[in-house]
Amino acid sequence: MMKRQDALRLAVEFGAYYIDVELKVADEFTNSIFGKKPEKFKVVVSSHNFHNTPSTEDIGNLVARMQAAGADIVKIATTALDITDVARVFQITVHSQLAGKQLQIKDLLDLYNFKLIKPDTKVYGIIGKPVGHSKSPLLFNEALKKVGLNSVYVHLLVDDVKRFFNTYSSMSICWWMMSRGSSTPIHLLILLDSDGTLKSYNTDYIGAISAIEDRLRELNGSIPAVGSPLAGKLFVVLGAGGAGKSLAYGAQQKGARVVVANRTFEAKELAEKVGGEALTLQEVNDFHPEEGMILANTTSVGMKPNINSTPISKVALFLYFFYSPRLPKVMLSGKYNCDLRVLSIDGLISSLLRNLQEALKHYDLVFDAIYTPKDTRLLREAREFGKIIVYGTEMLIRQGFEQYKNFTGLPAPEDLFRELMSRHA
Ligand SMILES: NC(=O)c1ccc[n+]([C@@H]2O[C@H](COP(=O)([O-])OP(=O)(O)OC[C@H]3O[C@@H](n4cnc5c(N)ncnc54)[C@H](OP(=O)(O)O)[C@@H]3O)[C@@H](O)[C@H]2O)c1
Repeated sequence: MMKRQDALRLAVEFGAYYIDVELKVADEFTNSIFGKKPEKFKVVVSSHNFHNTPSTEDIGNLVARMQAAGADIVKIATTALDITDVARVFQITVHSQLAGKQLQIKDLLDLYNFKLIKPDTKVYGIIGKPVGHSKSPLLFNEALKKVGLNSVYVHLLVDDVKRFFNTYSSMSICWWMMSRGSSTPIHLLILLDSDGTLKSYNTDYIGAISAIEDRLRELNGSIPAVGSPLAGKLFVVLGAGGAGKSLAYGAQQKGARVVVANRTFEAKELAEKVGGEALTLQEVNDFHPEEGMILANTTSVGMKPNINSTPISKVALFLYFFYSPRLPKVMLSGKYNCDLRVLSIDGLISSLLRNLQEALKHYDLVFDAIYTPKDTRLLREAREFGKIIVYGTEMLIRQGFEQYKNFTGLPAPEDLFRELMSRHA
């Protein structure tokens, strides 16, 4: 059987332009073709490290050894254990070409517009772990290409945020933060200013609040003539996670009186921060100090795959009672004014709907931050009861406008964004 190096030498004789050999055998191979190298032929010497990324100094020494072994082109592949390892490779490869091993050629070309990337291309990114599922690069890169801006938007898998910022603080990168444990990014935009300072903006709050304000304006016409239609309203936020904080803060900024309801103590902490009241989620069902309130769900209750759940309906509670005949009658009849054991199935259903209607009756507008699915059970039921609804997709897309504006300094191409969103989301 022909030896591997014999096959390579034959390829040189037959006019191959490039031969790739591992560093271990590079000396032997280049010596064997010494004096017989065709003019256009080049030797690529490769080194693969499947364990880690060595220090800058070690990589520098490796490059020198590869050149000494006869490399016309040096190819180094290392394993990045953390995104900050890449910075060491950047230092060595300022004048080289970089290839991301995991990227498919299709993604390089179609997703990241690789053919348009130049040394002065501005880099924006979304950071998180996991981050690969984020659709932001897809939307932004298509928009950036259509608008003709010399920029690219990439996914950045980040384990240690502090180390990431310390390492890349001199690069023109803008970041998105992912929220705790959730698969949704909290859209906290961090921009590096020309003077080297970092500035952060929460675009989630702008996206959600502006969508709610616009719907209220549609509802109320030009009243109030100035200021926010949220001013003075009672604004009930369900949830106190990343999205809950954004909504509670945003509503407070617009002059609303904020109530935060969560299943854990975080409601109290957040309510204190925005000068509002804290409730449990159960208490919200019977909370109606006035009419015309705004309800904003920011819990993940109702999100895929649990699309039949809703944070405010009493249905689950009623069914629980229904199937628990040993519960004392006073619990069944006292609070909800009906004894389920004597109701027919029709009676039960109308009782459930009445109570659900009761819970939603006092709100003018119901917003749900969830965008998978777009039409959550909470929104469907609110719509059935004649309430104005605002979708989580609207928050998502509007925070995208804000993100684009902050990144590029230009107004967002809103129609294009909406079109891309309807195609990709
Ligand atoms: N439309 C947009 O642009 C946008 C942006 C961001 C987020 N979101 C959506 O907002 C939702 C929350 O996201 P996040 O980032 O704020 O997540 P997060 O920080 O993890 O907060 C999740 C919230 O949901 C509550 N929760 C979770 N499971 C619950 C359950 N079974 N019963 C009652 N409460 C429950 C949590 O309560 P505890 O504190 O008690 O755990 C917490 O308040 C997600 O559906 C996300 O997709 C949408």
